[in-house]
Amino acid sequence: MRNLLAGNPVIPVITLDRVDDAVPLAEALVAGGLKVLEVTLRTEAAIEGIKQIIKHVPDAIVGTGTVCNEQQIKLSEDIGCQFMISPGATDTLLQAAQKSSVPFLPGISSVSELMRGLEYGHRDFKFFPAEAAGGAPILKAMAGPFGDVKFCPTGGIGLHNVMAYLALPNVICVGGSWIAQPKLIQAKKWTEIEQLAAEAVALAS
Ligand code: 3PG
Repeated sequence: MRNLLAGNPVIPVITLDRVDDAVPLAEALVAGGLKVLEVTLRTEAAIEGIKQIIKHVPDAIVGTGTVCNEQQIKLSEDIGCQFMISPGATDTLLQAAQKSSVPFLPGISSVSELMRGLEYGHRDFKFFPAEAAGGAPILKAMAGPFGDVKFCPTGGIGLHNVMAYLALPNVICVGGSWIAQPKLIQAKKWTEIEQLAAEAVALAS
């Protein structure tokens, strides 16, 4: 997971309501400089949308988000996803992910959850919901006891606070929906989404 996240400091979190939006959206994000895309498994369109992106946007690195159970892990494997991200992590989910060949980024929001993930061999975690769970200060505090751990904070992050996270040495990347905003996808504003992606890349580099 670390190799995949390194060099890709911003991951757009995508929720697709229409399969037809998948390819033009992914093309806009990749054109703007963001190629690691998290598509949440929250909608009926997600699976077919991911398949379309894999088929038609070869430069995109597509993974599933909101992975909450073993069935979704299996589904992620079957459709050829390159990574999986969960908002939290139960023992059942961590055990299922251990059996999978697809890299998995488990979500945590507390020290004990982090320690449980370490017991399963993970070194990289989604920190969710980032802003509500303590924001950049809690991640800064975790760098002391858990110096080898890297985080991808997600939840409540946007242009106004992204740099506070990316400035931390234990933040490898951030995720968020502020780039592929649902209202922009709904209105098919691909140029605007490409510009938001390019703006995020410029800020993060
Ligand atoms: C999510 O899974 O919904 C992400 O954490 C996105 O959160 P955001 O909409 O606050 O960016």
